[in-house]
Amino acid sequence: MSKSFDIIGDIVIIRSIPDNSYTLRELKTFGQSLLDSHKNIKTVFFQSSSVEGTFRLRKLDYILGEKKTRTFHKENNCVFSVDIEKCYFSPRLSHERWRIVQKVMPKEVIVNMFAGVGCFSILIAKWNEFTKGYSIDINPTAISFMKNNIRINRVFGKVIPLLGDAKIILKNKLSSMADRIIMPLPEKAFEYLPSAIISLKKSGGWIHYYDFEHGKKTSYVLDKIKFKVSKKLNSLGIDFNISTSRIVRSIGPNWYQVVLDIHILKIPDSF
Ligand SMILES: C[S@@+](CC[C@H](N)C(=O)[O-])C[C@H]1O[C@@H](n2cnc3c(N)ncnc32)[C@H](O)[C@@H]1O
Repeated sequence: MSKSFDIIGDIVIIRSIPDNSYTLRELKTFGQSLLDSHKNIKTVFFQSSSVEGTFRLRKLDYILGEKKTRTFHKENNCVFSVDIEKCYFSPRLSHERWRIVQKVMPKEVIVNMFAGVGCFSILIAKWNEFTKGYSIDINPTAISFMKNNIRINRVFGKVIPLLGDAKIILKNKLSSMADRIIMPLPEKAFEYLPSAIISLKKSGGWIHYYDFEHGKKTSYVLDKIKFKVSKKLNSLGIDFNISTSRIVRSIGPNWYQVVLDIHILKIPDSF
């Protein structure tokens, strides 16, 4: 059977492969082989739905081991407490999170519009001493785990958790003050792009924009997203430059998660 799985702390999630269905017996056999070969794993789940809904959650079927959904996951000297059933978390984004951490400069003000349990913001605060991060999520449980993660990673005061819709929070509380905006919600990033610009300083800054796109060739996929975003920014009168476009990961056959690093050079006063 498929060897696709994610390890989050001491929990393993077996993932389905398109056009494949497994019997419970197959899942238990595979789960037991994972428990035997990874001594730190205590629980095995099967992901029986895609990531869905506003909070980006997935349905998990219990297979083996300790019956629990809360765990602690270590990543680049940080520890994240997470309930995998009630909050979004993906270890597959760790490379991308680290890439962004390395771009941040001292004294930057950073806004993560879709922060989950706070991974991007906490990693940035931990590795860049003089920064301030505003970390927004609409899921109250994710915010409560984020608050705990701020405490256990000792970044209190450097990461500010904010509960609510990013669009409303940026407009009412965080306009014209950020140097860098992170938008790790591909389903909403395009719609929320004008809100991200509202939050950037008038002198400009950076937007890390995530999106999904279909296509056989990755070069075509990147060009398609660049075209879509450029058209939108041009229509808003924004002076910008897309410095990087890259595939973050493949999420299905000919289907990709993409990131654009957009350098916003100037924002019109009327914005
Ligand atoms: C893909 S997850 C974020 C992943 C996270 N940045 C990480 O590295 O683990 C997207 C998050 O956006 C939140 N969300 C969805 N709609 C939102 C909105 N309108 N405003 C703020 N957060 C939202 C979801 O609750 C979810 O936690």
